[in-house]
Amino acid sequence: MIDPEEFLKFIKERRSIRSFQNKAIPEKEIEMILEAGRWTPSASNLQPWEFIVIKNKEILEKISKFAYFGQFIKDAPIAIAIVGKIKINPKWYKIDSTLVSMNMMLMAWALRIGTCWLGDMNREEIKRIIGLDENDHLLTVLPFGYIKGDIPVPMPRKPLNKIVKVV
Ligand SMILES: Cc1cc2nc3c(=O)[nH]c(=O)nc-3n(C[C@H](O)[C@H](O)[C@H](O)COP(=O)(O)O)c2cc1C
Repeated sequence: MIDPEEFLKFIKERRSIRSFQNKAIPEKEIEMILEAGRWTPSASNLQPWEFIVIKNKEILEKISKFAYFGQFIKDAPIAIAIVGKIKINPKWYKIDSTLVSMNMMLMAWALRIGTCWLGDMNREEIKRIIGLDENDHLLTVLPFGYIKGDIPVPMPRKPLNKIVKVV
């Protein structure tokens, strides 16, 4: 088991990374990120998701035009689109696939690989670019790459006494 203090420190140290080195990520490490996604919990264990590994630079470039606050995706050596499969679990596909994204981000951080959740994007255009259909929910596309430059300073978090209630 992981030392709990170390684990909490690890969670606190993870940062969103928006600048990547032009350096390939070994297959073994990509596979570990995918494995972390695969082992995510899901409602009734239905695993309503699919992961699209995007290595093609032209595709990354095209996606960057529709990722409004994520143009930096074009500099990443790879990205993974996390797709919620609506038909597999219409009620929970979004929550389940969101949990996948967190597992993948933490695995990447353990590998010293940077990533950043991309929210605002033209999902319809990006779905078209990567060949998804109407029953696929494009949750996000996570860029992955070795960190370029300094690790950003932490964004502040609300103190526990502002967000925790005990009843
Ligand atoms: C749902 C969601 C959407 C986000 N969308 C973007 C985005 O489009 N572009 C971006 O640069 N960062 C995005 N972020 C990253 C947040 O800005 C970042 O997680 C937050 O500022 C805290 O910083 P940290 O991750 O370094 O702790 C998003 C994060 C989440 C969870």
